Amino acid sequence: MRKPFARIAGVGSAAPDFVITNADLEKTLETSDQWIVERTGIRERRKLRDDESQTDLFAAASRDALTRAGVGYSSVDTIICGTCTPARRLPSAACDVQARLGGGTAAAFDVVAACPGWLYSLTVAEGMIASGASRHVLALGGDRVWSIVDQGDRNTAILFGDGAGAAVLVPATDDRGILATSLGAEGTLSDLLYIPAGGSDEPPSTQVVAEKRHLLRMAGREVFKVAVRRMAQACHQALGKAGLRAEDVDLLVPHQANLRIINATAGEAGVPLEKVMVNVQHYGNTSAGSIPLALVQAEREGRLQPGMVVLLVSFGAGFTWGAVLVRW
Ligand code: ACO
Repeated sequence: MRKPFARIAGVGSAAPDFVITNADLEKTLETSDQWIVERTGIRERRKLRDDESQTDLFAAASRDALTRAGVGYSSVDTIICGTCTPARRLPSAACDVQARLGGGTAAAFDVVAACPGWLYSLTVAEGMIASGASRHVLALGGDRVWSIVDQGDRNTAILFGDGAGAAVLVPATDDRGILATSLGAEGTLSDLLYIPAGGSDEPPSTQVVAEKRHLLRMAGREVFKVAVRRMAQACHQALGKAGLRAEDVDLLVPHQANLRIINATAGEAGVPLEKVMVNVQHYGNTSAGSIPLALVQAEREGRLQPGMVVLLVSFGAGFTWGAVLVRW
C-alpha cells in the first residue's frame, strides 16, 4: 500500500437551526409521516431562513474544522468548495467563504459534482498536496438544497435539507490519511436528476420560473438503482486500490440520501450495518453536506478513532459518484 499524500487534520459541519418535520410537510403536501419514514427513513430536515446564507454554514463549518485541526486560517493556501447551489452565480462559493473568513489570497474555486461534491473536493485537495502545489487546504462541501427544490412537489420536497461541512487537509506524515479514491461520472444519465433551465443555454426568465424549470427534476426509482450499483462499485474499487477488503473497513459513511439506499449499498459493499453511520433521519439529503455532517457526528459520538479505516461514498446528479478511503 502506498504512503498517503494527504491527511484530514480536522472536520467541521454546520446545519441551520430551523427544523421541518414530516408533520410540517403533511400540512402542505399530499404525503404522510408514515410514507416518508417507510420509503426514506427521514423524519426531519433543516432549512436556511430567507435572511440566512449558505455562506454562513460554510464559514461556521470551516471555523469548526480549523479549530479541530489546530490550523490557523492564515496558513490555508487553497479553498475548494463542492457545491451546486453557490450563494450567487459569480463569484464562486469558495471566494465568498474566503471573504467571510477574513480574506487573504489563498486560491479559491468550486467543484460542481452535486452530492459527491465534497468527495471530489477532497480528491482535488489530495492531488494538490501530492503535487506540492498546496500545503493546507480547506475542502468544503454543502448545499442549500431547498433553493432548488419545488416545495410543492412531494416526489422531491420530502427528501432534502440544507447543510455543510469542511475538512482541513495537510501533508501526511505517517500511515494516516487518504489511502485511495475512486471517482466516476456518467453524463449520459443526466436526465435522471437535473435542473432544466437557468444556465447559460436558457438564462433565468419569467417563463422559466413560471414553468418551474429552474428547479430539480428527478426520476427517483432509476436514481435509486444506479446509486446503489455505482456506490458499491466505487467502494470495491477504492478498497482494491489500497489492497484492503470490506472486512477491513471500521466505519462506512455513505451519502445520506435514503435509508433504503444506504442499507442496500452497505449490503452490496459487504460492510455490516453496525459499521455504517446513519443520520439521514435528522437531516434528510443535504447533498454535498451529507457526508461531513455524518462524519462529524460520528467523531463526536466516539465512533471515529485515530487509525480506523473509514470509507466515504456518495452519488448524485450528473450522474456522479465517488469513494474516498481514509486511515483516520
Ligand atoms: N408521499 C406519498 N406518496 C408518494 C410520495 C410522497 N411524498 N411520493 C410519491 N408517492 C407515491 C407515488 O405517486 C406512487 O404512487 P402510485 O403507486 O399510485 O403511482 C407511490 O408513492 C410509489 O412511488 P415510487 O416513486 O415508486 O416510490 P419509491 O419507493 O421509489 O420511493 C423515492 C420514492 C423515495 C423518491 C425513492 O425512489 C428514492 O429515494 N430514490 C432516490 C432519490 C434520491 O436519492 N435522490 C437524490 C439524489 S442525490 C442528488 O444529487 C441531489
